[in-house]
Amino acid sequence: MTKKIQHGNGSKPILIFPGGMPRSLEYLQNCLRDGLPVIGASSLDYDVSREKYPSWLFLPYIAQSGFDEALKQAIVEFGIGGVYSPNPVVWGYLNRKLKDIAPGVALVNESPVGAELSGYRAARAWARSRLDQPLPVASALMPKTHLSEIELASLFRHAELIPGMCDCEKFCALYEIARRSPAGDVVEIGSWWGKSAFILARLARCYGIGNLLCVDPWSNEHLVQNDEKGLVDAESARLDAEEALAVFEMNLLPYSANHVNYLRMPSTDGAKHYREHRSATTSSFGTTSYCGHIAILHIDGNHSYAAAKADIASWSGFVVDGGWMIVDDYIWPYGDGPQRAGDEFLAENKDRIDVAFVMGSALLVQLSHAA
Ligand SMILES: C[S@@+](CC[C@H](N)C(=O)[O-])C[C@H]1O[C@@H](n2cnc3c(N)ncnc32)[C@H](O)[C@@H]1O
Repeated sequence: MTKKIQHGNGSKPILIFPGGMPRSLEYLQNCLRDGLPVIGASSLDYDVSREKYPSWLFLPYIAQSGFDEALKQAIVEFGIGGVYSPNPVVWGYLNRKLKDIAPGVALVNESPVGAELSGYRAARAWARSRLDQPLPVASALMPKTHLSEIELASLFRHAELIPGMCDCEKFCALYEIARRSPAGDVVEIGSWWGKSAFILARLARCYGIGNLLCVDPWSNEHLVQNDEKGLVDAESARLDAEEALAVFEMNLLPYSANHVNYLRMPSTDGAKHYREHRSATTSSFGTTSYCGHIAILHIDGNHSYAAAKADIASWSGFVVDGGWMIVDDYIWPYGDGPQRAGDEFLAENKDRIDVAFVMGSALLVQLSHAA
């Protein structure tokens, strides 16, 4: 979601200083998008980023004696209404001095250090709360030890940087089931940009479960789900499946180290390939071997009833005793495909299910483990 820029002092221009830092350029783009006036500034004789700004000026370094006067003059001359600075030292200096240099002109952004750290702090708080109040799961398999606060926070933080659909409740449930998982392959049907794939890959690694296989055609044709009001299909038509695969690869490659790969095909073809080959080869990830039975099956593909039913039918037979199947979007505001298919699985397999619960919008099912 795009955040509307708060522009301090009405229609007066904001000074962005130093103008070439990545956060400065990000802020500039948002101002230009919102039609707000800005002026860039730098202490370099020639700053390559100046071409990007509608107006530009030179300022000495803050450590130089002429800085305060030069800034004062610039504020008067250009009618500057506020200052944005992502540089912690410049921000700190201006936070102390701006009220004397130009009363009425203020910094428009919060402390850059605080802004950069807020996501990490939130991740640690989330990890701490998960460890303080673990989700009770009535599984017959004894849970493995918790991750440390830093391990869990790091998993949360990195997952957060990947766009996609995996809410905190589901994240928490995935963590708890990974602790109670047997060994085997981890298979995801429907990966898109790779958010849940990253979480599964990391959990599989931390708990020594097995390799991750992602099965997804990454094709616009397969995005059509015939949702009840056509709202999902209308948005999906604007997405670029080719680009989504590139984003998936960019997100997963740093963490893959021979234990993640994908099959670019619909899940039913993927099941046939998995049965016959037990391996996947792609130019980005090389060749990854699979053991041929599944410890965790995450179904998050096309949500039409027919597709969800086919995903479950083609893949659930590979899940080992004590293994888990997750049907994402079991609660889905746009249709009941995953729920109908999930309920039918529960009804047909009630004698071999140990645990079934809904968390967030996902159904999580653990098959009975051998006595
Ligand atoms: C909701 S997205 C997956 C979101 C992802 N799990 C995440 O964490 O953000 C649904 C995905 O299912 C894929 N898909 C559609 N039809 C499929 C099929 N027949 N087999 C496998 N994947 C399919 C789509 O290409 C899309 O990437």
